[in-house]
Amino acid sequence: MSDDLKAQVGEAALEYVRDGMKLGIGTGSTAEAFIRALGKAVANGLSVVGVPTSIRTAELCKSLNIALTTLEETPHLDLAIDGADEIDPQLNLIKGGGGALLREKIVAAAADDMLVIADDSKLVDTLGAFDLPIEVNEFGLASTMSKIEQSAASCNVSGALKVREGSDGQPFVTDGGHLIVDASFGRIADPEGLASALVTVPGVVEHGLFTGLASSAIVAASDGIRIVTAK
Ligand code: 5RP
Repeated sequence: MSDDLKAQVGEAALEYVRDGMKLGIGTGSTAEAFIRALGKAVANGLSVVGVPTSIRTAELCKSLNIALTTLEETPHLDLAIDGADEIDPQLNLIKGGGGALLREKIVAAAADDMLVIADDSKLVDTLGAFDLPIEVNEFGLASTMSKIEQSAASCNVSGALKVREGSDGQPFVTDGGHLIVDASFGRIADPEGLASALVTVPGVVEHGLFTGLASSAIVAASDGIRIVTAK
């Protein structure tokens, strides 16, 4: 998505933000476009407080004078606004391309609603072309990966698992100090079933299937912006 389209989606998301709101603030390039729009609104007098979903997002918010809080201080949020890697017609999502899925899911779950911001390349009929990020504890990694395979197989899903690496070739480490396993499962016919199976694996901290969290999405395309609601 071009920076211009991202900026348009970021501005459009601002229309859902009301004075006094407690926001969950997402991670990724589309979320950053929203944060920049939010920063301008705050400079013009909008009063909100946000829980950032990553260190990167927190730093950008601070640089724009967006007031931040924590879920300890503010356990209940009005709205979480975040990007996604894939969006299906029920607004089930794959998230975690940026490695922030654990905090993103905790924040989305703490909010009354989740608004997704994305371009139309993220819309799919069925999740799974994008590798599913699974956040795992480093301890027992090989055993955990084997159990992930078994658990996926019980949902008729299979595919290569790869430990994510950073640009330095070293394992990518999340803000929570965990690793990410990217799973090339392909078509995920039953996201809820796979989500339930994956969380039973010891060592799995969280996974990037977001089911039942988002109720609407602002989607940008070359011919404009539209709102998608869950079917
Ligand atoms: C980070 C995420 C992002 O929201 C997702 O990767 C989309 O990023 P972008 O807006 O840069 O395409 O889940 O963990």
